[in-house]
Amino acid sequence: MKTLDVVLGLQWGDEGKGKIVDVLAERYPVVARFQGGPNAGHSIQFGKTSFVLHSVPSGVFRNGSINIIGNGVVLDPTIFREECQAIEALGVPVRERVKIARRTHLIVPTHKLLDAADEAALGKAKIGSTLKGIGPAYSDKTGRNGLRVGDLLEAGFDEKYATLKRKHMARLAQYDFTYPFDLEAAEAQWLADAEYLKTFEIIDAEYETNALLQADKAILAEGAQGSMLDVDFGSYPFVTSSSTACAGACTGLGVAPGRIGKVYGVFKAYCTRVGSGPFPTELSDATGEALRQKGHEFGATTGRPRRTGWLDLPALKFAVMISGVTDLIMMKADVLDGFDTVKVACGYRVDGVRTDRVPYDVYAEIEPVYKEFKGWKCDLGNCRSEAELPEAFKAYIAYIEQETGVPIRILSLGPDRDQTIIRQ
Ligand code: IMO
Ligand code: MG
Repeated sequence: MKTLDVVLGLQWGDEGKGKIVDVLAERYPVVARFQGGPNAGHSIQFGKTSFVLHSVPSGVFRNGSINIIGNGVVLDPTIFREECQAIEALGVPVRERVKIARRTHLIVPTHKLLDAADEAALGKAKIGSTLKGIGPAYSDKTGRNGLRVGDLLEAGFDEKYATLKRKHMARLAQYDFTYPFDLEAAEAQWLADAEYLKTFEIIDAEYETNALLQADKAILAEGAQGSMLDVDFGSYPFVTSSSTACAGACTGLGVAPGRIGKVYGVFKAYCTRVGSGPFPTELSDATGEALRQKGHEFGATTGRPRRTGWLDLPALKFAVMISGVTDLIMMKADVLDGFDTVKVACGYRVDGVRTDRVPYDVYAEIEPVYKEFKGWKCDLGNCRSEAELPEAFKAYIAYIEQETGVPIRILSLGPDRDQTIIRQ
């Protein structure tokens, strides 16, 4: 019997999960998304071009792979159709490789309007949502109003859709809000795209995942967003609306906790955040700009410039703790190549008091306590083995391993597949 192994982002999203799933997918015949929706943007590189996946699992480009969209995901049929057609245009038989859980909740056009209205009403306190309708769709799920993929196959769908839309329109009428959005056109398109979605295999994913494990097929669960955006443990309310930690893989796929094997935690050698909320190590200076430019830190889903800063160890250790990370994967250390010194926040001073804990209060004054490392000043992207790594860089990663208590198993030192060092 094989295990369900999980890949998670340990920061605020955009850690490079897409590349790593693509690298790991070789060992996994099945890749499954278990939470989030098209707010995700998972970039995969092919030579000099890159492809951004939003809803489809990142195993889709591997021959013979099975890619499951799990029940914990929220799916927008229009974005899904556009994505599948773009994948198909690359010659990939997407319909053979992607299956969708019957219990997956649907994002409808009015969810996007509600998202925009909620954000507008918050004004300066806005979350910085990707405006893909994620929050409203999950609200309907837990509020027991939601529409599911399985509903598309049953009689009475039109009525269910009309009821939900009526509720949304009544809510929208309470806002003093206009948004340039042609609801009628979006709706017509959505209904056509829902028909398209029905041409895919729709499965009882909880039975399928357990049967696959039983049949000795390892499954890789592909997390979206990051641990610090988790609806319970992130910097609430500046979070997304799903469980991005390891536990979400169990509820999002119907697999029991005891079936979890490896938990891969992906983090960048520095930090980024897109959207609002606390970011203790944020650099609003030339160093932050250098990180953004060198690291191409612009949103894959929205194109927004990402906020940048030094590595935050209290946050990283927190993420490792809540998910039981067994293997760390460090991304993009090559972005730090040119710096004379590299800093890591090893603790905080919160309202003047020293602590190693992530504070509850998202408006607290947090001052990072830094440890400085000598820069390695060389091209990590050219290193192909452990032996070629500079001593200064080895000291940096040894410190992170010692502090987190978890080995760094994979070092990604550039966008290409071959710029990856797998360590023993
Ligand atoms: P991947 O999977 C980075 C952020 C948004 C916003 C907050 C809530 O590519 O790492 P939402 O649209 O969920 O209502 O937005 O969460 N956010 C992400 N940030 N990477 C992502 O996904 C994100 N998905 C959502 O910017 O701050
Ligand atoms: Mg992303």
